Amino acid sequence: MSWFKKKKVTLEKVDMSNLPSHIAIIMDGNGRWAKKRGLPRTAGHKVGSETFRTIATYCNDIGIKYLTVYAFSTENWKRPQDEVDAIMNLLEEYILEAFEKVRKDNIKLTFWGDRTRLSPKLQQMMNEVEEKSRDMTGIHVNVCLNYGGRDEIARATKEIATAVKNGEISVDEITEQMISDSIYSKDVPDPELIIRPSGEIRTSNFLLWQSAYSEYYFTDVLWPDFKPIELDRAILAYQNRSRRFGGV
Ligand code: FPP
Repeated sequence: MSWFKKKKVTLEKVDMSNLPSHIAIIMDGNGRWAKKRGLPRTAGHKVGSETFRTIATYCNDIGIKYLTVYAFSTENWKRPQDEVDAIMNLLEEYILEAFEKVRKDNIKLTFWGDRTRLSPKLQQMMNEVEEKSRDMTGIHVNVCLNYGGRDEIARATKEIATAVKNGEISVDEITEQMISDSIYSKDVPDPELIIRPSGEIRTSNFLLWQSAYSEYYFTDVLWPDFKPIELDRAILAYQNRSRRFGGV
């Protein structure tokens, strides 16, 4: 993109009265960022975790109500053990820090995904920080950890099938709302905007149910390089879209 075109985009102002209430981000490109610098992939995740803090703070400052980030997918266990361990350690570090911050910064922190495969220590930390931040009224941050959209829908299906089997509901009573109420996001509106940096143009099993009418924003910028100005660009792109939800 030419300097002029790039500059023109940033000269446009984000309309603060028309912000998406929920932004979701696939934090992609950490490995390539590190490789370009001759560093181990884990160094990319470290800087990526700092980018997450910066972007979460920025979202809170400008008044975004919900931020959901993809930190570890149900498929990411296929990575080398040292990389998995490094990501889990970064999450532990973040949660430890969050214990101090959630009340001070009025952040509600929750985790979406299957916790049973995570270490007992991490699970306990997640439960405790969720509990501690439960009544906070500022930004609600959801960290997706051992999360998969298909896994989430399969779990909801089992829950509803069990209710049918137990005679609590009939098959005809199953509704879309019932599925929405049986997935991790039950208390959270669907994201209006989903951002994927790093040049990949796919959803990778992220928020499959919730993204039915989300606007996607893709950029070549790698996640560790993703600055608040990139978030402004994504919001501007969102504000210039015409959302019709199947209407005209
Ligand atoms: C995808 O990039 C990134 C991940 C699978 C891990 C994301 C984790 C963090 C940013 C750190 C922990 C998060 C928090 C919330 C503290 P990739 O490794 O697939 O990059 P590549 O496609 O360039 O290889």
